[in-house]
Amino acid sequence: MIKQAIIPLAGQGTRLLPLTSVFAKELLPINGRPGVEYILDECIEAGIKEIIFIISQKKLMIKKYFYSDTFYKKIIKKKKDPKVIEEYKKILKYKKMIKFVYQNKPKGTGDAVLKTKKYIKDKYFLMLLPDDLIMKYNCSKSMISTHKKYKSSVMASMNVNKKTVSRWGIYNLSKKVSKNNFLIKEVVEKPSIKNAPSNKAVIGRYILPKTIFKKLLHQKPGKGGEIHITDAIQSLINENEKFIAHNFAGKYLDCGTMSGFIKSNIEIGKL
Ligand code: G1P
Repeated sequence: MIKQAIIPLAGQGTRLLPLTSVFAKELLPINGRPGVEYILDECIEAGIKEIIFIISQKKLMIKKYFYSDTFYKKIIKKKKDPKVIEEYKKILKYKKMIKFVYQNKPKGTGDAVLKTKKYIKDKYFLMLLPDDLIMKYNCSKSMISTHKKYKSSVMASMNVNKKTVSRWGIYNLSKKVSKNNFLIKEVVEKPSIKNAPSNKAVIGRYILPKTIFKKLLHQKPGKGGEIHITDAIQSLINENEKFIAHNFAGKYLDCGTMSGFIKSNIEIGKL
């Protein structure tokens, strides 16, 4: 069973500047709710029991959001506003499940994952990247089913416009295992159009094996000088770890860029 999820939240959010110079992008409201709450609900509905947030000292605002007990208690004591009580209960529910670890230097997603090494208990765990929202479909839940069925690691996937391949991890497949699941042969982080093996992109949901930590310990910086989870995944594929690309249904929203963020607000408002 997959019971633990990790969420890297220490990124600087340069694609959302100037807002991110003072604000954690994951708390920016998308249709009135912090983006990260959509991710938390996806985890809870998928049966996850513990969620590890990887934050940095610069993003303590995220921890504060879940630890504002004094603030809520004072307001509730003065005036028993049912709306405030409801908000506080929701925050408490999330808080009970979240553990915080720190990545103070932005060295990449692979390095962020490594920070959770001593907390991961089972053979496999889930990772969600908060820039990627998938609406009207619980991608994590269906990836967990895929994992159970094929006893493999899994990544969410989507076909993208060939012109945008340098924005994503891009893979090519060795075979189709079912209608929406494909065995991955190779994965490359943000290739140029010329070097891209396909237009199949990895989207931010991963079921990773605990063995990834061994790879990450020795992972050299890759594209842009960062330690990429994609490169560690490729090392595991080279050693015959089965990685399945799961084509998800539902609506994908990229909240990590300014234009994507604006569009996400409009799209979620319409749902
Ligand atoms: C990360 C991954 C990339 C993946 C993308 C999905 O990139 O490194 O492989 O395709 O998430 O959103 P980032 O968004 O951190 O640049």
